[in-house]
Amino acid sequence: MGKKKVSVLDIQKRKDQGKRLTMVTAYDLSSARLVDGAGIDMILVGDSLGMVMLGYRTTVPVTMDDMVHHAKAVARGAKRSFLVGDLPFMAYQADRAEALRNAGRLMKEGRMDAVKLEGGGQDTTTIRAMVAAGIPVMGHVGLTPQSISQLGGYRIQGRTSESARRLLDDALALEAAGCFAIVLELVPAPVAQIVSERLEVPTIGIGAGTGCDGQVLVYHDMLGLFEDFQPRFVKRFAELGPVITEALSTYRQEVETGQFPTAEHSFEMPEEELAAFRESIED
Ligand code: KIV
Repeated sequence: MGKKKVSVLDIQKRKDQGKRLTMVTAYDLSSARLVDGAGIDMILVGDSLGMVMLGYRTTVPVTMDDMVHHAKAVARGAKRSFLVGDLPFMAYQADRAEALRNAGRLMKEGRMDAVKLEGGGQDTTTIRAMVAAGIPVMGHVGLTPQSISQLGGYRIQGRTSESARRLLDDALALEAAGCFAIVLELVPAPVAQIVSERLEVPTIGIGAGTGCDGQVLVYHDMLGLFEDFQPRFVKRFAELGPVITEALSTYRQEVETGQFPTAEHSFEMPEEELAAFRESIED
C-alpha cells in the first residue's frame, strides 16, 4: 500500500496484475479517515446512507442534496482512497442533461473521483455522455436496491440461465459504454466468476462469491453498527455496537456518580485572578 492517491488507472492495473481490490462505504469525515487510513483502495459514498445514516427503510428517498452533503465530508477526510459517489434514485433516469448535471455536482461540489449508477445495461447513452464529459462511471448490476419495489425484495439475481445471460449482457454493455468497474450485488458465485472473467474492467462483488476482482461492504454492516438488516453475505469484522453502548453507559454512570470529570479533565486559573474575580462579585 503506497501513500499516493489511487487513480482509475491503478484500479485497472490491479485487475491486469491479478490483485484484488478493496472498497468500503463511508459517509462522513471520521469514517472516511478510518477507511482511508486502513489502506482501502476505494471509498463508496453509497446511497445506503439513506438506511444507515438517515433511517429510511430503503435507498429510494435519498436525494442529490443528501449525497452531495455526505460526499463533501468524506472528501475532507480521505487522502489516498479513490472516491466514488452514488447517484441516487431518479437522479439519472429521467433526463440525460439532468443526469450529467447531477454527476457533475458529485464531482464538483462533492469532490468525488467518480460516480456510480445502478442498472443501465439496456440504455447506455447516459453513461456514454458522462464518460465523454470526463466523468468516470462505475456500473452496478445484479440486485439494484433502487429498484427494490420492482424486484420485490432483496433477492439473489441471475439464478436462471436466462437471467444470468441477461446479467452478463448488461455488464458487457456497461463495459462497452465506458464504465471503469462494475459492482455485482447478490449474484450466484459462478455467474459472478464468469462475468468477471469475461470483462476487461474489474468487478467489485457484494454477496457475489469469491470470483470477483474486488469486494465492497457497507461500513456499518462490517463493523457491527447496524442491527436492522444483517444479510448472510456480510462478515462482521468487529462488533462495535456493544462496545459503543458500553462506553456510553459507563459515561452516564460516571457523570451521575461524580466520577467524571476529575481534576485531570478540568482547567485552573491563576490564584490572584481567581481572588480578584471573587472580590469583584462580592456585594
Ligand atoms: O449504496 C451502497 O452502499 C452500495 C453498495 C452496497 C455497493 O451501492
